[in-house]
Amino acid sequence: MDSGSTGKVPGLFDASRVCLAPMAGYSDAPFRSICGEIGADFCVTEMVSSDGLVRGGDKTERIMDKIDGEGPLGIQIFGSKPLIFVEAAKIAARRDFDFIDLNFGCPVKKVIKKNGGSAIMRDLGLMERICGSVVEAVDLPVTVKIRSGWNSKEENYIEAGKIAEASGAVAIVMHPRYRSQGFSGKADWDHIARLKDAVSIPVIANGDVKSVDDYLEIVDRTGCDLVMIGRGALASPWIFRDIKDFLQGKEPGKIYISDKIDLLERLFRMEIAWKGERLGLLEMRKFYRWFLRGCSGMKEFRRRLAVASREKEVTDIFSGLREEIESKWKRTG
Ligand SMILES: Cc1cc2nc3c(=O)[nH]c(=O)nc-3n(C[C@H](O)[C@H](O)[C@H](O)COP(=O)(O)O)c2cc1C
Repeated sequence: MDSGSTGKVPGLFDASRVCLAPMAGYSDAPFRSICGEIGADFCVTEMVSSDGLVRGGDKTERIMDKIDGEGPLGIQIFGSKPLIFVEAAKIAARRDFDFIDLNFGCPVKKVIKKNGGSAIMRDLGLMERICGSVVEAVDLPVTVKIRSGWNSKEENYIEAGKIAEASGAVAIVMHPRYRSQGFSGKADWDHIARLKDAVSIPVIANGDVKSVDDYLEIVDRTGCDLVMIGRGALASPWIFRDIKDFLQGKEPGKIYISDKIDLLERLFRMEIAWKGERLGLLEMRKFYRWFLRGCSGMKEFRRRLAVASREKEVTDIFSGLREEIESKWKRTG
């Protein structure tokens, strides 16, 4: 798809929408496609390096690929050089994306060492140049994803948000932790509330939303426009459906262990089809851990899945478990 209005979904950043967070190693096409089906209004790809995009290669190509029928999708780009960002954004804009998200929040050392991700929050002049030049270069809407700052002494999310707005970003995703926190501690939703008061573009609240109650609380406490969910969706992609159901006044549907197995097996088949048997099997091991966390009586099943090395082995494990569930647990969840 060419860059331009064709890639835009009207009202994509309207209030009350819920979306899937970019998560390296997880937000791939199969998982996004399942989340979209279950209720995520849009998704964001795993982060992709601007250098990698410009160089080209199989890895970035795979991150940019969509599954047929996937819903609205933003591509998230990281890097540190404005000119490379611009080239990368132009490449992305020729593909089938609905918006471009600029990563100014990644805390990972490998990214920081090259002045990317949250390191850019220490140089708001650079953030302005990157954001302004990408907005100028492509017709797609541009969003930014920020943290609260480098650390509590260098808290600057309000300035960063204002710069993003002035540079033409259409929305700001706010994950209210400092870079120094990584993913530890609790996300400080008050930061989101303050950012919301300081800017006029939509604010997408992110961090520690794991249930409908969390969703309601974050909306209430921050006044945010949209909510982005990461780990909560890894534990239960049904979180999107539950939120939607709640907003429509419906009772939340029950999720049985058999539903989890069915969804896991579907994701497994999609991952294998998407990445091939070897890689698909490996990638799924992370999903098993998330999906089955807290499910009692699954230890042995998890162990067997974690060491299975052939597609047939895994499908046999799923079938065996299903039979066991049918005979023993009778859909008790
Ligand atoms: C495994 C993992 C990978 C992540 N990868 C990215 C990424 O590629 N880009 C990004 O902006 N944030 C990334 N994040 C951060 C999430 O997008 C999100 O901001 C963070 O997890 C807080 O939201 P949550 O509590 O809903 O998970 C990642 C988080 C996790 C757990």
